[in-house]
Amino acid sequence: MALLKASARVASALTFRSSSSPPSALLPEKPHWWKSGLSVYQIWPASFKDSNGDGIGDIPGIISKLDYLQELGVDIIWLSPMYDSPQVDMGYDISDYENIYPKYGTLQDMDNLIKGIHDRGMRIILDLVINHTSDKHKWFEESMKSKDNPKSSWYIWKDPKLGKHGTREPPNNWGSMFGGSAWKYCQSRDQYYLHLFAPEQPDLNWENKTTRKAIYDTALHFWLKKGVDGFRVDTANLYSKRSYDDGPITPRFAPFGAPAEFVVNGPRMHEFYQEIRRDVLDKYNDPMMVGELGGTDFADILKYVSSDRRELSMVFDFSVCTLGGALRLPPHEVHSYKLPELKTALKLTQDLVANTKAWSTVFMENHDNPRSVSRHATNDPAYHDRACKLLALMIGTLSGTLFLYQGQEIGMTNIPETWSPEDLRDVSAIEYWHDMNRRFPRDKELLKKAWKGIVAVSRDNARTPVQWSSDANAGFTDEKSKPWMRINDNYKAINVAKQLDDPHSIRSFWRRVLEVRKKFESVVVKGHYEVHDYDNEQTFTFSKTQTDREGRAAYVVLNFSDKEAELESPRALREKEFELYLSNVYKPGAKLGAWEARLYLERCGLGEGWILLQEDDDEEATKETSR
Ligand code: GLC
Ligand code: CA
Repeated sequence: MALLKASARVASALTFRSSSSPPSALLPEKPHWWKSGLSVYQIWPASFKDSNGDGIGDIPGIISKLDYLQELGVDIIWLSPMYDSPQVDMGYDISDYENIYPKYGTLQDMDNLIKGIHDRGMRIILDLVINHTSDKHKWFEESMKSKDNPKSSWYIWKDPKLGKHGTREPPNNWGSMFGGSAWKYCQSRDQYYLHLFAPEQPDLNWENKTTRKAIYDTALHFWLKKGVDGFRVDTANLYSKRSYDDGPITPRFAPFGAPAEFVVNGPRMHEFYQEIRRDVLDKYNDPMMVGELGGTDFADILKYVSSDRRELSMVFDFSVCTLGGALRLPPHEVHSYKLPELKTALKLTQDLVANTKAWSTVFMENHDNPRSVSRHATNDPAYHDRACKLLALMIGTLSGTLFLYQGQEIGMTNIPETWSPEDLRDVSAIEYWHDMNRRFPRDKELLKKAWKGIVAVSRDNARTPVQWSSDANAGFTDEKSKPWMRINDNYKAINVAKQLDDPHSIRSFWRRVLEVRKKFESVVVKGHYEVHDYDNEQTFTFSKTQTDREGRAAYVVLNFSDKEAELESPRALREKEFELYLSNVYKPGAKLGAWEARLYLERCGLGEGWILLQEDDDEEATKETSR
């Protein structure tokens, strides 16, 4: 590909371009392997690839696709929970940290997977789910037996509250994240236990040092010793509970109270992470720790990720995911949002990288969020390709570690509105749908809105099986098998096989974007982010500038609409000379076409300009790259 030839020369020439030494404050700290242009690919095991025809994805299935992932250009695999589990919450309810859910495979399969990934020069991180276990974990089975068993205080048990008429009531009014009360009564102890998520996910008691030590041994040491390279830390800010007062009744939790102010970023969180660092992580080779950090503002995020505290490596911030009220409001109240809000939402993570010594992540999809093209761009099939590439170019040129979710590289979409509630699989969507039907059985309009909300933002959108080909069952499982979850109807149009050898496909575009991140790491992955058309509701123009010695700049222009838009280069950068480096249309014109996206890089002034990626596609001269 032309890109490879041209930029290799440019990059080596740049190394010799000298200027005075940078001030010491800008000298790089000891480099962490993860603080770089390496990209992460998240695998949701149930839906990735089924190897044995039982309709459920599995570890051998993942192994069979490692070459595909390597070829895509991702460097780190994040594997969502594969531990043994009753699967109430798709494995986020772990009954044994040291074993594998039998339908996914065996410990030997995991060893093979770790080796297969390492052999290809990639790395693997696992999900670390330690705020709660499954109620079928042997710790909980023991804890629930009595008030005086050795593990009686390993979970959060409280006495009932006496209601007005002497009735037994939960200790406070908290609602769980998945609906209903956050407390469940247990006869054998005559007490309630706390579950911030499903009743089958009791919260562990982090105040108990013995419990913490046991968690570190089974969930961290066990896997680090097997060679995993780090963890994605589930619900990373909930371990330390502040107090147990009643919470405010909010639309999201009504008729229950919201627990957030008592359980998010509690007083001992940082102490716990420092303990994990000292007692566990420092014994291994710089594991990557990426924390899921909902509901946390900039100053607080900094405490977790600043390099002197070494608590977490980076965190997921949910500003983009919560646009339009998603995750914060019940699905039927989620609404559309305006482009300037997206520009603001991205700023927080960008400032973490550029303005502090901390680090960040950039992502638009995961197993808890809808598909990005459906939620943040367009559902119009005519613009599907272009819009997917536009989003790829947008997050692909932002600072921090990039996370891609399975299927995002081919532009998989949300489930269609024509599906029915029986097609849902996620505990939270099913709970919500039943709850709405229980509470408002006659309100047809509201129930219609609820369904639309599910189709727009529910977690099931991301969990449909990966569309590998246009064969029966999308090549995810055998023709004759029944996939555990319905396959999206659009698999004949959107699938890997169709895109693999097509240089103009969404997947090929992603490959180029991932290359760009490696080649121009200092500006693309670490540069300073600035928005140049903040109020514009149609276009999004941002620049990236380097703070190191080359000081090169780049800028990106994106048309978030199906109408033509004016093309304006950022005024502040007009002195500099830029060339178009990557675009999602074949012949970019004087204006921006519908859903058009362009990346401009500053000319390096060494006699060789940038080479347009389309150069080697002469025979396609009349076609656009997006078909
Ligand atoms: C996190 C996970 C989500 C899970 C929850 C409970 O938010 O991402 O999928 O349901 O934690 O473990
Ligand atoms: Ca299987």
